[in-house]
Amino acid sequence: MPIRWHALPLLFLSAIAPSLANPQSFENTAIVRTVELGGAIVHVTTTYAVKATQPGSKVYTIALGLEEKQKTSWYEVKVKGQQVVLPVSEQILDADRNYHLMDVTLPKALGVNATLNLVLETIQTHATTPWPKQASQKEDQALKYQTDLFVLSPYRTSVQRTKLKSLTPRIISFTTPENVQDFTLDIPATKSGATVTYGPYNNIPPSANEKFISKHQQPITVHYHHEQPVLEVLKLTRAAEISHWGANLNIQDNIVLHNAGPTLKGHFSRLEHQSQSYFKRAAPHALAALTLHLPAGIRNTYYYDLIGNVSTSRLRVAPSVAKTSRANRYSILELRPRYPMMGGWNYSFTLGWDAPLEDSASWDKSTGKYIVEVPIMTPIPGAVVDTAEVKVILPEGATDVEFVPPFPAVANWISTHTTYLDSVGRPELTFQYKDLTVFHAQNIFISYRVPLAAHLTKPFVVAAAFFSLFALAIVGRRINLTINKEKVL
Ligand SMILES: *[C@@H]1O[C@H](CO)[C@@H](O)[C@H](O)[C@H]1NC(C)=O
Ligand SMILES: *[C@@H]1O[C@H](CO)[C@@H](O)[C@H](O)[C@H]1NC(C)=O
Ligand SMILES: *[C@@H]1O[C@H](CO)[C@@H](O)[C@H](O)[C@H]1NC(C)=O
Repeated sequence: MPIRWHALPLLFLSAIAPSLANPQSFENTAIVRTVELGGAIVHVTTTYAVKATQPGSKVYTIALGLEEKQKTSWYEVKVKGQQVVLPVSEQILDADRNYHLMDVTLPKALGVNATLNLVLETIQTHATTPWPKQASQKEDQALKYQTDLFVLSPYRTSVQRTKLKSLTPRIISFTTPENVQDFTLDIPATKSGATVTYGPYNNIPPSANEKFISKHQQPITVHYHHEQPVLEVLKLTRAAEISHWGANLNIQDNIVLHNAGPTLKGHFSRLEHQSQSYFKRAAPHALAALTLHLPAGIRNTYYYDLIGNVSTSRLRVAPSVAKTSRANRYSILELRPRYPMMGGWNYSFTLGWDAPLEDSASWDKSTGKYIVEVPIMTPIPGAVVDTAEVKVILPEGATDVEFVPPFPAVANWISTHTTYLDSVGRPELTFQYKDLTVFHAQNIFISYRVPLAAHLTKPFVVAAAFFSLFALAIVGRRINLTINKEKVL
């Protein structure tokens, strides 16, 4: 059966376009970058206090260092205090340029001397490394984070600062930058509590160019204690199966979890772990449990690993929430791996549940199509998902399949999934992603039509199966007429 399939027009703009930036059109009266040091993810917020220097200035260009760009797995630009996400178009990455430019279209053109505060929020993944690389069960966990000293910009900047904030004041060391006397006469870096501040640095010329970078840009490193496990999901495989017969949305995740903290030095002692836990001093790099927010109203939740069912977890199911209601309720699963996960260890498991289809599906009368929202992932706080593959299996015979992903996938395609008792198979959509974080835990919208005939196909196949069973039974003269249909269906 031919499947008509095309993506709906996407609302986000990430098209590659030539630069419209003009170094004369703006200046930065101030740039403040705040880095929230974490484990697997690092949250960076940069505020640009912008002043237009030419009339009708509408496109502001943001610059990122190459390494910074490579670590960035999510970003968003807004006007400070506003909810609207501004359109950003990334400039073509020029092979011999060691910085990256992104053009932000402002809500309206600015007149000369008009000002605006722009906020760039980014999430960096794989940006920290454990140091030392090994730790015994009794030792602490410390991480290193490296970034560039200056926030680059194609415009001149009156003053800029970078603040690196750790979760605790236990900062072991930080780099003192060199050769910054052009920009400050004070101490170039200071620590206060859990914060290391670089700057203020004054009167910085346009810096998104080779000349500035080779002369002034330099790496800075902060070495800090981190008291939570560094969590990576090496691979997430999600299958979401929509059934109109059972009015059910089944979600099953296969997860390979990895503790990316310092690798365990020596042997693991459960006794040591238990005594540490008893005194509430468990090693910061040992993962004993994860708290996950699953949808409300789920049923038949299962959790098993390579050995079998894991029964030491606790689930509190919130009552089902109708799709039309805005209530933000979820079930809480305290998931306990079979053993505490130490640094360098992997743990593979499967987690699945059924949810009422009406909680995520609706029927559009005007088009006669169903619209289903399928979450890309269950957020795992603080973790990065290195690779994810999300499969959505639609009902048998679904046609006119359209979808809108919340952000572009690395790859996506549609195929046909055929199981026992299926006659024509089911359309199956696959989306592949890299480096996902809680910020990516959004929904894919899928719409399709299920013709009445397709609804009837299944009983027909089932009936045919019964008839062949009967035929066999009759041949064997052992007819049992009390076959329980429910078991088969
Ligand atoms: C912009 O500000 C500068 C400095 O304050 C002033 O000299 C100039 O006249 C202003 N231009 C306009 C168009 O307001
Ligand atoms: C695992 O638990 C499920 C549901 O509680 C049960 O149906 C299944 O038989 C169990 N499997 C094993 C291997 O114990
Ligand atoms: C964890 O899994 C990764 C990827 O499959 C593998 O390279 C690594 O060796 C595993 N680590 C351990 C301790 O088994």
